[in-house]
Amino acid sequence: MNVDLSKIGMEKGVQYETIITTSNSEGARHAAPIGILYSGNNIVICRIFKGSETLNNIVSQKEFIVNITHNPELFVLSTTGNLSEDYFNEDNSIRNIDAYFKCDVIGLKEAKKRSDPVRTSYEAIVIKSKVTELIINKQIRAFNRGFGYLIESLSNLTRKSIVDGDKQNEYKTNFKEARRVVNKVGYKDEITSMNKIKREYDD
Ligand SMILES: Cc1cc2nc3c(=O)[nH]c(=O)nc-3n(C[C@H](O)[C@H](O)[C@H](O)COP(=O)(O)O)c2cc1C
Repeated sequence: MNVDLSKIGMEKGVQYETIITTSNSEGARHAAPIGILYSGNNIVICRIFKGSETLNNIVSQKEFIVNITHNPELFVLSTTGNLSEDYFNEDNSIRNIDAYFKCDVIGLKEAKKRSDPVRTSYEAIVIKSKVTELIINKQIRAFNRGFGYLIESLSNLTRKSIVDGDKQNEYKTNFKEARRVVNKVGYKDEITSMNKIKREYDD
C-alpha cells in the first residue's frame, strides 16, 4: 500500500520528533520519544540506543507505531517514565492522537556514523522500516526542531552586542550546537539560513 507521509508534512531527508509506541511479547505497551528520518518511498529510519525498552520491543516484535503530536505532556510523560495502559489504543497507538503510522521493520544494523556528542561507549541500532498505514484523526504536521533553533539563534544574535563577554561566549557555544542540530535534522532552507547567521556570529 502506498502511504503519503506528505499529508503530515513529512519530507524526504528531514528528521521529525515523534513518540514511538511498542509492545513486548506479553503485550505490555511502552512509549518513548524518538527521532524519525523520512528517507522517501515510505521508508523511515531511526537510531535507538541499546538498553532501551523501545529497541528491545522493536527487535522482538519487528513492528511499531509512530505517533505524531505536539502535546508537551505526552512528550514529558513518555520521557520521564511510561504512559499508563489507559493511554493506549488496542493497536498500540496513543488514544486521541492527532495522527499515527504503522511500521514494519525491514532492516536492523549496528550504528557506525556518529552525528552527535554521545559517548562512543553508547552503542545504537539503526532501524529501517516500511510504513504500512497512516491514520490521520486531525490535521497536523510532524514536529521538526530546526526552526526553533533558528529563531533562538536569531534572538540571541540581536542581544549579542548588549550582553557581557561570558554571555557572548555562551551564545556562540549555543549557536554551534544549534547549527549542528539543524544540519542534522532540518529543512534545506533552514540549513542555508543557519550558514548566513553563522557569518554574523563570526563577525
Ligand atoms: C524529542 C526526543 C527525541 C529522542 N530521540 C531519540 C532517538 O532518536 N533515539 C534514542 O535512542 N533516544 C531518543 N530519545 C531518548 C529516549 O526517548 C529515551 O532514552 C527513552 O527513555 C528511551 O528508552 P525506553 O525505550 O527504555 O523508554 C529522545 C528523547 C526525546 C525527548
